[in-house]
Amino acid sequence: MRHNEVVRRLLDFVLGAALLSGCGPAESTPADPGQPDGWDSELSLNEAEDLNADPDVVEIDLTAKEADVQIREKAYTTVWTYNGGIPGPLVRAKVGDRVVVHFHNELPDPTTVHWHGVRLTADMDGAPDMPHPPVKKGETFTYDFVVPDAGLYWYHPHVDSAAQVGAGLYGALLVEDPNEPKDLGDELTMVLSDIGIEESGQLQSPDVGGELGSVFGREGDSVLVNGRVRPEMVARAGRRQRWRLVNAARSRYFWLDLEGTPFVRIGGDGGLMSSPVTADRLLLVPGERADVLVVPVDTPGETRTLRWIAYDRGYGTAFERPPVDLLSIEASDLPAEDAGEIGSVGRDIEVINTVGATPVEIALTMDQSGETTTLGINGVPFGQAPPIAAAVGETQVWTVKNEMAWAHPFHLHGFFFQLLDANGAALAPLEWKDTANVPVEGQMTFAVRYDPRPGMWMFHCHILDHAELGMMGMVNVEK
Ligand code: C2O
Ligand code: CU
Repeated sequence: MRHNEVVRRLLDFVLGAALLSGCGPAESTPADPGQPDGWDSELSLNEAEDLNADPDVVEIDLTAKEADVQIREKAYTTVWTYNGGIPGPLVRAKVGDRVVVHFHNELPDPTTVHWHGVRLTADMDGAPDMPHPPVKKGETFTYDFVVPDAGLYWYHPHVDSAAQVGAGLYGALLVEDPNEPKDLGDELTMVLSDIGIEESGQLQSPDVGGELGSVFGREGDSVLVNGRVRPEMVARAGRRQRWRLVNAARSRYFWLDLEGTPFVRIGGDGGLMSSPVTADRLLLVPGERADVLVVPVDTPGETRTLRWIAYDRGYGTAFERPPVDLLSIEASDLPAEDAGEIGSVGRDIEVINTVGATPVEIALTMDQSGETTTLGINGVPFGQAPPIAAAVGETQVWTVKNEMAWAHPFHLHGFFFQLLDANGAALAPLEWKDTANVPVEGQMTFAVRYDPRPGMWMFHCHILDHAELGMMGMVNVEK
């Protein structure tokens, strides 16, 4: 149990005892009831147990193994898990902590753990053979790194990633900043994903649909929030919540709609933005995160549904696809609270100076001239092109062109970037990104500055079926 969890339980106990003995504060001024008891129980995530007493070290055991999990009613499915559940345990740390992960592989196949978005050293990044080989069945590897930035990150395999993520291997890593305002709303971490399950209850083959399935990007038919199909929440009307969201699906874009309820996005991949943005819908491409404030229900007794809306990410992806209910939110009968105004939420983010930056141009390409379709970077599939050269301290401006009729979520390992507009100016409000959409036959431009963490770093499309077809590359950051 974590320290603050212990304190909370103690407080519950003491306050509960005080109420029973009739001498508590409840007699004169009723305590703020907050959310009703068990309001988020269907959304709860298992948390990794911290085995280290040092408050600045989070040390955990993480085991990849098969497990029988009930996703569909009345059927158990044998899936691949971290510590026996989908998603894997929530790893909670604070800025600057050292995170030590004793990873054990009990799966039949080799695997690695990639810490998506974390600015760690290249040898801890989980990219296979850069330099550590994948962890074989029965083997152990210790990941040991510092988490320098607040934000929601996530972890997943980097070997045969479409199949392994598709089978259930992913989890969230929440890095909290003790100096951030605490009163923004009741916090929930939501891992969005999907999984393909046969009528029989068996996990769908990772090759379902063949080559076309890969080019389209496989989307599992069961859409999950924290591993559950359409969980329910009972929330207090008018009370603000803070949702930390990650899209951990192997291919599915999540375009979220809460019956028009506005989402106030205050952060993204790499922590808070310079200022919030309000929108009625929220798009999360695979790998992307969002930090949003929302008042999901206004009136006691009412119900609203968070829905997945088909986002047109290219040829056929939105055609005749109805919305999918993700989460139903019922307002409890507690009197409505007045959420009030949101104070100023944001932080200073320095604009990357691009004067004299090195331009890097790449194209995301498809090649159907051979017997099989390959995807690639500049026409060349992964492993057949030299890495892009970079140096510690260097600033680069990348232009990522999309030559395909499908959109691609581009992800760079290890470094945050800033998106630029058509004139090369930083997009406002400012935020740190590691994953961003490259629209159909369009382009995406960003600035990146390589802080002193030399090594080989990957970049790729986070539609993992595309990555496996070759849409990956490397950056060699030299000292
Ligand atoms: Cu989540 Cu190589 O990525
Ligand atoms: Cu792609």
